[in-house]
Amino acid sequence: MSGPNTDYDPVEVAAVSPAELEAARDAALAAIAAATDLEQLKAVRTDHAGDRSPLALANREIGALPPQARKEAGQRVGQARGAVSKALAARQEVLEAEHEARILVEEAVDVTLPTDHDPVGGRHPLTTGAELIADIFVAMGWEVAEGPVIEAEWLNFDALNLGPDHPARTMQDTFWTEPADHHVVLRTHTSPVQARTMLTRGVSDGAPIYVVCPGRVFRTDEYDATHSPMFHQVEGLAIDEGISMAHLKGTLDHFATQMFGEGITTRFRPSYFPFTEPSAEVDLICFVCRGVGHDDTGQCRTCRGEGWIEWGGCGIVNPRVLQACGVDSERYSGFAFGMGIDRTLMFRHGLEDLRTLFEGDVRFTTAFGSEL
Ligand code: PHE
Repeated sequence: MSGPNTDYDPVEVAAVSPAELEAARDAALAAIAAATDLEQLKAVRTDHAGDRSPLALANREIGALPPQARKEAGQRVGQARGAVSKALAARQEVLEAEHEARILVEEAVDVTLPTDHDPVGGRHPLTTGAELIADIFVAMGWEVAEGPVIEAEWLNFDALNLGPDHPARTMQDTFWTEPADHHVVLRTHTSPVQARTMLTRGVSDGAPIYVVCPGRVFRTDEYDATHSPMFHQVEGLAIDEGISMAHLKGTLDHFATQMFGEGITTRFRPSYFPFTEPSAEVDLICFVCRGVGHDDTGQCRTCRGEGWIEWGGCGIVNPRVLQACGVDSERYSGFAFGMGIDRTLMFRHGLEDLRTLFEGDVRFTTAFGSEL
């Protein structure tokens, strides 16, 4: 326990002077008026009306004054404190109202804006693209056919004049399934659907064949901006009497125009496929530079200065294929073509990376979703 406080002499304690009191009150009122938000006002309250504020100290000292001085000092301190707490309350009210008004503006929700509660996503450009291609041919009276992606080796190769030892088999980097003696592959192209169509439909009743076959194909390729072990092709097959290379060229020109616009035609370059003879690579005229290869700013970036863009393969169906598939090659002839759907869409939409087609990002598909 500490001893009695011998320094304490109430008679000598003087009341806070009226001038000091006024200064403390005015400082408090000025600080209150200067507070611009509730946070600041809270700090002002602590400084000027809190337990340790000059006015609170002045109030505490009243008790220590001689009795005759207490009344007057009490009045003065009371008035000063009253003025401060009134000002605090008034400022508090103003700042609260401002705060509320600001929140109402900042957090306003326009309930009349259109909403999308159930985003429906988009159809994949490969789906809509394959449908668009099919529609172009259906409009010419063709049929659409599909076949399995896991295919008999015989239909993927042998029926198409690619015997077991044919050197061209190595051109198609094949995924084989196990066991090997079942002779089943992941189809390397859509051409087995040609063989299936001829074998199942036949032409013995005189009905010609005009089919397009869009579908997924597989090759042991790297996965990069221009290659993928899984991609899509569309195959076309026409079998009728008197079919020639001219019909093939006309059909592909029409396809190109429908797909890419007026003036986009094709050219043929001699090539080799075991299932067609003669065979050709088909190129599209570059739809950016229109075959010129450059523009005012230099080499055309789309065709890399070539003026043409590789599109696919085509030719007159090899009579050996017709024979293998039960079609009278003396009476009938036909043409066939096959091209990458992915590549076609990349050109059509200016896509730079093939992988965007396969990665299933909904932001990508939604952008194409409205195109039907
Ligand atoms: N199937 C060939 C390929 O994938 C393309 C093709 C189809 C060529 C039809 C000629 C005729 O490379």
